Amino acid sequence: MTGGAYMKLGACWTGTKILASFLLGKRYYSKQHFDVFFARSIDPWRYRSSAVASRRREIILQTLPRRSYASMLEVGCAEGWVTTHLAQRAERLLAIDISSVAIERARVECRDFAYIEFKEEDVAEGIPRGPFDAIVCAGVLVYVPTVDQEALRDRIVDELAESGDLLLEHQSRDYPGEVPGIVIHEIFARHAELQLLSFQVQDDYCVSLFRKGFG
Ligand SMILES: C[S@@+](CC[C@H](N)C(=O)[O-])C[C@H]1O[C@@H](n2cnc3c(N)ncnc32)[C@H](O)[C@@H]1O
Repeated sequence: MTGGAYMKLGACWTGTKILASFLLGKRYYSKQHFDVFFARSIDPWRYRSSAVASRRREIILQTLPRRSYASMLEVGCAEGWVTTHLAQRAERLLAIDISSVAIERARVECRDFAYIEFKEEDVAEGIPRGPFDAIVCAGVLVYVPTVDQEALRDRIVDELAESGDLLLEHQSRDYPGEVPGIVIHEIFARHAELQLLSFQVQDDYCVSLFRKGFG
């Protein structure tokens, strides 16, 4: 079977499971979903061996305009693959994820950075209290349903400090149950307090950098 056909089959199967969850009144991309997903394998997205993932991480780091941030929030830290690098750009870093399995691995991965705080949090339920000088959401907001995206955006912007930087990095592609990165970008671009500083697309990922305020 070709890679394209395999992708289509996978997407159909995921679509069926999402429909079944919906009919049962459950959220598909739940804590349980991600805990089971991480428990099945270490590095489930194969970041460590992927040139695309390395380029993606490099773009995130290059796009953040300031050398160092007093306080940073990373939403959806997974096993800490980007976190170790963000930690070198922050005096304080709070890294959150919906999955406790991922958080435990991230703690081990980031053991050399005592100033990173980890918390199990579901962003669909709430955002930790700021203000944060930088907020990084990479590959995570796609899992929050479209209808909840505006409210989530408003909560994120509320916790961003005045003149703070917000970096979004998401896959542009439409995958069942996920919100395409470009749609998320457009929702954030409509926020009255955000100014778009840059927008890039590479390897099917879009990266947006916003700043709060217009001063
Ligand atoms: C594709 S990984 C991205 C990891 C990392 N940010 C990166 O870019 O390499 C998505 C992560 O988001 C987490 N996640 C998904 N939905 C979430 C939610 N509602 N709240 C917090 N984290 C969530 C998942 O558990 C997973 O670790």
